[in-house]
Amino acid sequence: MKMDYIETEEILYCYAPYAKEIAKWLSPSKVRHSISTASYASYIARKIEKQSLENKLIIAGLLHDICRELPPYEMLKKSQELGIPIGESEKHNPILLHGPLSAEIAKRNFDGIDEDIYEAIYWHTTGKENFGLIGIILYIADFSEPLRKYSQAHIAREIFDNEGLRKTLLYCIEQRLSLKKHSVLPQALAFLNWVREKNTDI
Ligand SMILES: [Fe+2]
Ligand SMILES: [Fe+2]
Repeated sequence: MKMDYIETEEILYCYAPYAKEIAKWLSPSKVRHSISTASYASYIARKIEKQSLENKLIIAGLLHDICRELPPYEMLKKSQELGIPIGESEKHNPILLHGPLSAEIAKRNFDGIDEDIYEAIYWHTTGKENFGLIGIILYIADFSEPLRKYSQAHIAREIFDNEGLRKTLLYCIEQRLSLKKHSVLPQALAFLNWVREKNTDI
């Protein structure tokens, strides 16, 4: 199975400007997580025969956490400057802003961050109703990429290989919600309900 993954070297070579940028913002372990998310997202795309999404997924995977390690006060300050809505939950937990903030920073730093990539990065921690396929794959890859240490990541990858995307997505959302230390955001619940109600294959 490992052989199907796009190699780290290939990502670093073909997507060098993105890799260089995240290295300015993130610790080595978060850079590795971002590369691994990009690699696993492209694996998912190949498996479900959506190779056309690979390029966007690798870019989204590389950039999704670009603001993840900013200090909380900086997250609040930058979000304010960029006009990102800050609710009560975000005020108490500025880390919740890292998705929206990463999407904005990605857009400002690179041409070619289209709506699909922007949406995927913006909502990658909660998901949302009517989430696009790029976002859905990023959400799964972020939760279950092979460098994740918790056992649920391994289980999610097994489910994906044996039972497909929809079951994996449901598993990832349910696990993610049950692991949450803080209260569940309404968008995350709306995402779960939307997937549950959706009968068609995702
Ligand atoms: Fe994140
Ligand atoms: Fe992440």
